[in-house]
Amino acid sequence: MSDAQSIVIAIDGPSASGKSTNARIISAKLGYVYVDTGAMYRTLAWHALNQGTNVTDMAAVEALCREWPAKLVKRENSVWLEVDGYFPEQEIRSSEVSKVVSYVAQVPYVRKWMKERQRSCVDFGDLVMEGRDITSNIFPETPHKFYLDASADERQARRDADGIEENLAARDQRDSTRKTAPLVVADGALVINNSGESPQETSARIIALVENRKLG
Ligand code: DC
Repeated sequence: MSDAQSIVIAIDGPSASGKSTNARIISAKLGYVYVDTGAMYRTLAWHALNQGTNVTDMAAVEALCREWPAKLVKRENSVWLEVDGYFPEQEIRSSEVSKVVSYVAQVPYVRKWMKERQRSCVDFGDLVMEGRDITSNIFPETPHKFYLDASADERQARRDADGIEENLAARDQRDSTRKTAPLVVADGALVINNSGESPQETSARIIALVENRKLG
C-alpha cells in the first residue's frame, strides 16, 4: 500500500518526548508533510465526549467511529481530520480530552480505521508522521524509524510547562500495555533520548541520519 516514491520519517515515543516539536521542525526543513496521529485520536476522543459516548465502552466507541464522517485534509503542509470542515485544534488539547484519549485509542476497530487513513497519507507526499505505533505498525517498512524518549521527570515538567494538568504516567502506562499496537521500540528504530537537549539539536541529528541513509 505504501507508495514506493514517498519517503516516510516515522517517529514514536511516550507523551512529551518531543515528537511533535521535532516532527514539525523536520517537516518544515525538509518540506515534508507533517502528520500528528495523536491529534487524529484526540479528535475522535473530543467527538466522543461531545456525543456523550462512554469512552470506556469499547463497543460504543467502535459504533461511534463506524458512523464518523471525518475526512483527512491537508492544510499548510499538515494533515488532520476534519468533520464538516472543522478541525478542533484548541479543543483537542484540553485536559478532558487528554484524560480519555488512550481509552479511545485502545479500541481495535478505531486502530484499523486510523491505520487505513494514516497509510493513505502518502498520497499527500513525503511524510513526517509521529505517534505511538508509526514505526511498529503503520509504516514498519520505512528505513527512517525513530523512538524519542526523555526522563519521566523531564517529560512531566514539559507537560506542566504547557499549562496542561495531566498525569502522564497513567496515560503512558495505558498506551504501552494495551493489546492492539502498543507503544514499543520497533525493530530497526533508533532510540534518541533527548533529555537536556534542545529540539534544534535533536531534529538536526534526525535530519542528518535521514540524509545519510538516503545517500547510502
Ligand atoms: O501524542 P498525543 O499525546 O497527542 O497522543 C494522544 C493519544 O493518542 C496517546 O495517549 C495515545 C494515542 N495515540 C495512539 O494510540 N497511537 C498513535 N499513533 C498516536 C496517538
